[in-house]
Amino acid sequence: MATVRVARLADLTPGQPQRAEIGGAAIVLARVGDQVFACGDTCAHKGGPLSGGKLTGTRLACPWHGWMYDVRTGECVFPGRGARVPTYPVRVEADEVFVECP
Ligand code: FES
Repeated sequence: MATVRVARLADLTPGQPQRAEIGGAAIVLARVGDQVFACGDTCAHKGGPLSGGKLTGTRLACPWHGWMYDVRTGECVFPGRGARVPTYPVRVEADEVFVECP
């Protein structure tokens, strides 16, 4: 498993999801306070870009039809229960954000 530097913590705004790439795959970074979570950028419903969605706390809403995901687990919490997007371990070290890619 490779670890990839994806951003500086200072460049991530709480409540504002940001797109990044690891190993050619699009992911979305979600800063919640001083924690950062990473999950797949492609909505499990019809492929909407989650990085263009709205982040409220740990809930990320897809911009296309509003499916909501918990960025901590990748699980869809409304309305597509049982659907999910992949999540990736994140490490923050000295203001640098690293994501482990599979
Ligand atoms: S594509 Fe994301 S809610 Fe439909």
